[in-house]
Amino acid sequence: MGTAPRLPSALVTSLLRRRAGLPQVVRVDGRSLRISRWPGGRHVAQVGPVPGEAPPSPELLVAAVDDLAALGFDDVMTTALHPSEHRPFVDAGFAERDRLVLLRRDLTELPPSPPVALRTARRREWPRLAEVDQQAFPPGWGLDASGISDAFAATPFGRVRAAGRPACGYAVSGRSRSRGYLQRLAVEPSASGRGVGRALVIDALRWLAARGATDCLVNTQETNRRALDLYLSLGFAELPERLMILGRSRDEAP
Ligand SMILES: CC(C)(COP(=O)(O)OP(=O)(O)OC[C@H]1O[C@@H](n2cnc3c(N)ncnc32)[C@H](O)[C@@H]1OP(=O)(O)O)[C@@H](O)C(=O)NCCC(=O)NCCS
Repeated sequence: MGTAPRLPSALVTSLLRRRAGLPQVVRVDGRSLRISRWPGGRHVAQVGPVPGEAPPSPELLVAAVDDLAALGFDDVMTTALHPSEHRPFVDAGFAERDRLVLLRRDLTELPPSPPVALRTARRREWPRLAEVDQQAFPPGWGLDASGISDAFAATPFGRVRAAGRPACGYAVSGRSRSRGYLQRLAVEPSASGRGVGRALVIDALRWLAARGATDCLVNTQETNRRALDLYLSLGFAELPERLMILGRSRDEAP
């Protein structure tokens, strides 16, 4: 693995101790790494490159995995990586955990809003939305309230919309300049198949268009046929590149 980098260890450790749960950026020798908790599991951390900064080296990643293991994080997952971002992670012993399809839609010719009552969800309701999320997604892939908060904060302008009271479905969407993002969508299984998911997506598209976005991106697991059918039926088209989530357990050597 070559020589160890100049110590990220103490830095990672102290940052995580001080503000555990919040995303942290570690910079070593001009390389950057974003570290946070994996929103779906208490002993899982998440790492990823920092947009616009030099990618982490394999050595920095190995050191970070070791430090995170010492802090009790048995498993480390990446953010959704573009193929051009895989290399240092693979060299540090990370392997594929999931593949995501990226879809895009121009914000023209929007469908009319279906007759499903939606409202803006207040922050105090986010723990309930996390319950919806955890019921909707497979074990380990659901968001907790801080994961919803991260999704909301991922773009300069965002909003969280919900259906039902108590909420049975919700969506987080966001905008950065003219680009819109559907960051998260979940409907609890007991309420699914009644048009709530479709209404939440249309609501997000219409809001983004009204705020000046020209297109919307969304990603979903390659195996999530139901969500893919929903997006395709609403005019999204698959982009050729696949995003990947990689992972490494504490005991897996690079
Ligand atoms: C995907 C999801 C949001 C759909 O929500 P929903 O409220 O059940 O969806 P809707 O009732 O609006 O149906 C929308 C489309 O979903 C698909 N769908 C709905 N129920 C379905 C079922 N029982 N079987 C297969 N497809 C179904 C259909 O394509 C449907 O289109 P239609 O309205 O022309 O029939 C919901 O199933 C869910 O939360 N899944 C888990 C989390 C997830 O996948 N999130 C999105 C990806 S990140």
